[in-house]
Amino acid sequence: LTSVRYPHVQRGKYATLTEKDVDFFQKLLPQRVLQDPSELDGYNIDWMRTVRGNSQMVLRPKTTSEVAEILKYCNERHLAVVPQGGNTGLVGGSVPVFDEIVISTQLMNQIISLDEVSGIVVCQSGCILETLDNYLAERELMMPLDLGAKGSCHIGGNVSTNAGGLRLLRYGSLHGSVLGVEAVLASGEIVDCLSSLRKDNTGYDLKQLFIGSEGTLGMVTSVSILCPRRPKAVNVAFLGVENFEAALQTFQLCKGMLAEILSACEFMDQESMQCIQENLKLTNPIKSYPLYILIETSGSHGSHDEEKLNAFLEAAMGKGIVQDGTIAMDVTQRQNIWGLRERIAEGLLHDGYNYKYDISLPLPKLYEIVEDMRQRLGSKVTRVVSYGHLGDGNLHFNVTTPEYNKEVLGLIEPYIYEWTSQVRGSVSAEHGLGFKKRDCIRYSKEPNAVKMMVKMKKLFDPNGILNPYKTIPL
Ligand code: FAD
Ligand code: MLT
Ligand code: ZN
Repeated sequence: LTSVRYPHVQRGKYATLTEKDVDFFQKLLPQRVLQDPSELDGYNIDWMRTVRGNSQMVLRPKTTSEVAEILKYCNERHLAVVPQGGNTGLVGGSVPVFDEIVISTQLMNQIISLDEVSGIVVCQSGCILETLDNYLAERELMMPLDLGAKGSCHIGGNVSTNAGGLRLLRYGSLHGSVLGVEAVLASGEIVDCLSSLRKDNTGYDLKQLFIGSEGTLGMVTSVSILCPRRPKAVNVAFLGVENFEAALQTFQLCKGMLAEILSACEFMDQESMQCIQENLKLTNPIKSYPLYILIETSGSHGSHDEEKLNAFLEAAMGKGIVQDGTIAMDVTQRQNIWGLRERIAEGLLHDGYNYKYDISLPLPKLYEIVEDMRQRLGSKVTRVVSYGHLGDGNLHFNVTTPEYNKEVLGLIEPYIYEWTSQVRGSVSAEHGLGFKKRDCIRYSKEPNAVKMMVKMKKLFDPNGILNPYKTIPL
């Protein structure tokens, strides 16, 4: 069988569902097996609506032992599966390619414990990021990550993609803040590395393998996370600059002058602004500039922080680096400013087809590629839009057309990957490889490293039932 939509991908030699299989799952998970075609679409189609699978069954376990029973059975029967959280992934990793069974963490949403002194929360993998953050807010704590999809992504999905997000600059990556993981292997064995310790050097740090492995090595069932104190004072500024050189100078200046209170430094270009103005009817709070920078500070003393932010703005404007800017005066204004940056991804979908790239580049090169691509694509496309996590050297480069256009894709790829590789960048900074990018791995990982990944996959999942066609190249 070859998928009509993906002619280069062959269905693996997996079994197909029988009535006996359905009986087994219905007994194991009464009322929690979905098979009605009208209910399956949401699990078969990805957030960007560019990848569609044909799964006939969604399983909704509530406990780790149910996940273990499911995987043990699927492994023995050679039935392929896709672990799915909130289905907000951007590389087609969370939906089936053919008829893989979806194992959803929707009902695995229990908070298991919270130690308010250390700030360590232990919870099931299906907890929604925003729900966890709201729970922690009542206890003066916060999740160490935040992203535009917070209202629907699950913490298990975040951990499995090693999601970066808007405050990585301040709180670091999940490889640092995840203290423990409980996962179920393809065989059904439960690996309990759910440590709640900050320090534990007893041999290999196995939990790290599940962070960012996109459901190919095991299904994450619970996690333990170190959460920072919620800052008492948060300020957000939105600035306009004339060019990318000025954006870099702004970043350098704010790192020096805002130092320990800097919690985010994001950028978006004028084309991003136009996209959200036209497609989402959002309003630009300042005049039009080629580039905009969002700076957030989080600290413990409101008036001290404001003083620092004002001094920074004065210096930046005095030096002629920043042309114009506004500071949010209250929570609503703060949310509105963040909305400008967080909702670009949503705005792009309104154009029709979105070619999405998520790359890490040395900072001085970050905008060169955008200008180069704009020239290359000319008027063949609706928009060339770029934004991203300036403080992390992470560019989100996007192109849109009214519908999928093979010629446009040919102009972007492999050019963008070759460009990135030449400057030793990464072709996936934070979204992962999933289904769409798995064959691009060689642009950023050397052959021996890829070989080692293949060996590890064989060790963890000898029958290849866990999220096939994803992450590991063909
Ligand atoms: P899903 O999409 O359901 O799954 C993602 C991958 O993880 C799949 O491969 C899936 O098989 C696997 N998976 C899911 N749950 C498990 C589990 N329990 N065990 C094993 N494997 C599992 N990403 C960033 O890094 N930074 C951002 O700033 C950011 N912003 C975003 C903004 C928007 C509007 C959107 C739509 C997405 C954004 N993303 C961002 C993409 C990001 O990867 C996801 O939002 C999030 O981390 C995925 O969580 P999820 O629960 O939706 O996972
Ligand atoms: C973001 O930072 O907005 C997300 O990673 C989503 C995207 O890249 O579009
Ligand atoms: Zn991002």
